[in-house]
Amino acid sequence: MIELSTGTAIVTGGAGGIGAATALKLAEAGAHVVIADRANVGGETLAESLRKDGWAASYHLLDVTQESSWDELIEGIKALPPLRVLVNNAGIATWGNDVETETISGWDKMIAINQTGVWLGMRAVAAPMRAAGGGSIINLASVLATVGGYGEEIAYHASKGAVRSMTKSAAIHWATEGIRVNSVHPGYIATPMSLEGLDDWHESRILGNTPMGRMGTPEEVASVIAFLASAGSAYMTGSEIYVDGGYTAV
Ligand SMILES: NC(=O)c1ccc[n+]([C@@H]2O[C@H](COP(=O)([O-])OP(=O)(O)OC[C@H]3O[C@@H](n4cnc5c(N)ncnc54)[C@H](O)[C@@H]3O)[C@@H](O)[C@H]2O)c1
Repeated sequence: MIELSTGTAIVTGGAGGIGAATALKLAEAGAHVVIADRANVGGETLAESLRKDGWAASYHLLDVTQESSWDELIEGIKALPPLRVLVNNAGIATWGNDVETETISGWDKMIAINQTGVWLGMRAVAAPMRAAGGGSIINLASVLATVGGYGEEIAYHASKGAVRSMTKSAAIHWATEGIRVNSVHPGYIATPMSLEGLDDWHESRILGNTPMGRMGTPEEVASVIAFLASAGSAYMTGSEIYVDGGYTAV
C-alpha cells in the first residue's frame, strides 16, 4: 500500500502544464513533491509557492535524457521521506513533421526526451522504491500512442507508443515487488504544449473529434494521476487510462 502522506513523489516536467497540476494534487495528498524540470522554466517558483501554501515541495534540476542528471536527482533527495511515486511527465511535441518530413535531428530529440527519458526514470527509481517497500510509477503517454491522429508527428507517435509498451514490460518485471507501473493517455489538454502553434485547422478538427467538444484541463489529468499514485489503485499495474473526452471512443 502506498501512503502518500509519508513519502516523496517526483514529478518530471513538473514546472508547468499537467506536471504543475499534478505536483499540487500530490502535495494535497500529503506527499513531499519534488518538481524536477529544466533550468529557467519556473520550477523553483512553483515549489516556493506550494511551500507558502503549507505543502512539502522542492525543486530539483533534471534533464530526463541524461543518466548523470537522474543520478544527481536520486542522490539529492536521499534525505527526504522514502520515494513512493514517480510521474514521468516531461515531454515535448511538435505540430507537423510527418513520415516524410521528419528529420533525424527532430526524431532523435523527441525519442531522447519522450522515450529514453521515461526508461531512464523508471530505472533510476528502482532501487529507492524497492528500499521503500514499493511504489507507483505513472508514465504520461497520449491518445497518439494508439491512434493515428492527423497523420503527423511521426516521432511523437513513436515515442508515446513506446511509453505505452514499456509501461507494460516494466509492470510485469516488478509485479511481485510492489512497484506498480501504469500509463495515462491524455487527449488534447489546454497547456502550453498543445496551445502554442495550434492553428484553426487543427483546433476545429480536435474539437470536432472530441465527443465532449472541448479540450481537457491539466487538473482533469492530474486527478487521474493522483489516483494511480494512491493506494486506491493497489490492484492496477500495466494498465492504460485514457483521459480524452471520448476522443478514442469514436
Ligand atoms: N497537452 C496535451 O494535450 C497532451 C496530450 C497528450 C499527452 N501529453 C503529455 O503530457 C505530458 C505533459 O505535457 P504538457 O502538456 O503539460 O506539456 P508542457 O509543455 O506544458 O510541459 C512539459 C514540461 O516538460 C519539461 N521538459 C521538457 N523537456 C525536458 C527535459 N529534457 N528534462 C526535464 N524536463 C523537461 C518542460 O520544461 C515542461 O515543464 C507530456 O509527456 C505530453 O506529451 C500532453
